[in-house]
Amino acid sequence: MEIKPINSYNKMSKLAAKIVAGQIINKPKIVLGFATGSTPLGMYRELVELYKKSRLDFSKVTTFNLDEYLGLSPEHPQSYHYYMYENFFNHVNIEEKNIHIPKGDTKNPVQECRNYEREIEKIGGIDLQVLGIGVNGHVGFNEPNINLEARTHVIQLSNETIRANSRFFKNLDEVPRKAITMGMATIMKSKKIILMAWGVEKKKPILKVISGHIATDVPASLLQVHNDVILVVDKKIYSSSTVTDPLSYPDKI
Ligand code: GLP
Repeated sequence: MEIKPINSYNKMSKLAAKIVAGQIINKPKIVLGFATGSTPLGMYRELVELYKKSRLDFSKVTTFNLDEYLGLSPEHPQSYHYYMYENFFNHVNIEEKNIHIPKGDTKNPVQECRNYEREIEKIGGIDLQVLGIGVNGHVGFNEPNINLEARTHVIQLSNETIRANSRFFKNLDEVPRKAITMGMATIMKSKKIILMAWGVEKKKPILKVISGHIATDVPASLLQVHNDVILVVDKKIYSSSTVTDPLSYPDKI
């Protein structure tokens, strides 16, 4: 895992956007995996800037989002569908047919998961996956558990996630209890991954991610066995002054 500690949110966003842009330039027909949440918002803003000012071309790009709340329609302001169009897709020259987000309002969630996984396989997998991390170490909506699902599936959200994500809703009761998410194997098969983490509340999960231990109760820790992950991380979480030997983390957490 390549670790890049960054000292400002803007710099982190610019760096992530630069990596994504570089990959698009190298391979215009790239397949990108996208995440939502507050962490990648600045990266999307930067990518829109690169499109407007430097003509970064999204016309051949295909995207797959990691996850979606079950029960929310695309028009719901808290759906990930709405988020992606509002913050990114509406502002660049991406083709509607190349955008993929699990359907939160599907009548048949199990079938929707199968179809979604099949679409990813059909195109040959994801070239570059952007990830955030939940306070409990989830990626996408792969929640800590004894068993993790490999493929795209329906998941029951943990109380911790419901509480953390309630900041986007009117109240706790409005937060959907279930979601569709890519599975850990779907994510791990991506050729390249950028994991972004900003804010001190991400310190605990991030230290576990780089600890050298892999545990299903920190799903993001599986990323340690992937051979091309760039961790773009808040310097407050990871810096040479606070951290000298990553292998000693488990005792300190
Ligand atoms: C949600 C999403 C994740 C995201 C996480 C962290 O649960 N399903 O993909 O990484 O939130 O979000 P934030 O960046 O807002 O902390």
